[in-house]
Amino acid sequence: MQNDQRLTPEALKAMPKIDLHRHLEGSLRLQTLLEIAQKYGLDLPAANIERLRPYVQITDDPPNHEAFLAKFQVLRHFYRSPEAIYRLAYEVVADAALDNIHYLELRFSPQALARVRGFLLGEVADWVIAATQKASQDAGIEMRLIVTLVRHDPLEQAKQVAEVAFERLGAGIVGLDLAGDEVRFPAEPFMPLFQEARRLGMGVTVHAGEWASAEGVRQAIMELQADRIGHGVRSIENSDVLQLVRERQVALEVCLTSNLQTGVVKNMIHHPLVDLLNLGVRVTLNTDDPSVSNLLLTDEYRVAVDVLGLGYGDLHKLVMNAVEATFLKSDERERLRAHFLTHLPPLANAA
Ligand code: HPA
Ligand code: ZN
Repeated sequence: MQNDQRLTPEALKAMPKIDLHRHLEGSLRLQTLLEIAQKYGLDLPAANIERLRPYVQITDDPPNHEAFLAKFQVLRHFYRSPEAIYRLAYEVVADAALDNIHYLELRFSPQALARVRGFLLGEVADWVIAATQKASQDAGIEMRLIVTLVRHDPLEQAKQVAEVAFERLGAGIVGLDLAGDEVRFPAEPFMPLFQEARRLGMGVTVHAGEWASAEGVRQAIMELQADRIGHGVRSIENSDVLQLVRERQVALEVCLTSNLQTGVVKNMIHHPLVDLLNLGVRVTLNTDDPSVSNLLLTDEYRVAVDVLGLGYGDLHKLVMNAVEATFLKSDERERLRAHFLTHLPPLANAA
């Protein structure tokens, strides 16, 4: 709808939002990275942000997942000290609050943060928990943590990381995720870890149907017992998988610009978000990696409106879908539902 006052740049910014799919390691302030590079003398061009940018952010990279994942290899060198990790993690949550995200599920990879300096996985997880909880209190944003296992890292390491997550279940960690190179590394070896997560009452989300086919979505749901799928947009290529996703109301964590940057879609106008919504799939809209992709969640809402033609009713639906897909306990989810129904611009009041 044209002239809908709920869709102006200011209104989209002010709209209370939820992000269920955001990687800590892909959400770091470039200014802070620059300061860390300078302070610790990292072997990178760090005279200013523009020199650093192409190493940690998609600029004129080819649209494929290898180029995208390569940024995370560089980013690992910035996790130099407990203070650096604490500051980076704190700012990630503060920045989400500045974009009017009222509820955030932030995922992180303890092994990525620990690797270069050889920190213990458990201590790294504790720094992230402490920093994000403090930021959440200071900025008035509600948040939970998800621990990410990485397909292309050794399985032995994934076991240790999962253990760290299991030990900290009462401390703000609510879910387990599987990310990384979906094309070359199957999900099967990780099955026992996800079964254990399930047994312990954790939420399960799995990156699938992004860089590889819809079959990965079926496997994530049937074998890894995923409640949610990271991306999952290629479900649309297989009607059986689509049916499964619909019937079980498995939430898809869609991230538009990430899909463009990694070549999942060649052009944004071809993105299946609208079709998935119209088919009754529980779709949500998220960022994936705001600093690697150079965007805010507000920008993704803008793209959804301007490029894909979504109206305010669709945006409202995306947010309320996200409420239903959170890894909160049912009474907490109930409170969140009431919060959003109170604070979102009402549906009926057009223009
Ligand atoms: N897919 C897989 N691994 C990732 C992603 C993604 O979109 N973002 C960060 N790590
Ligand atoms: Zn992701």
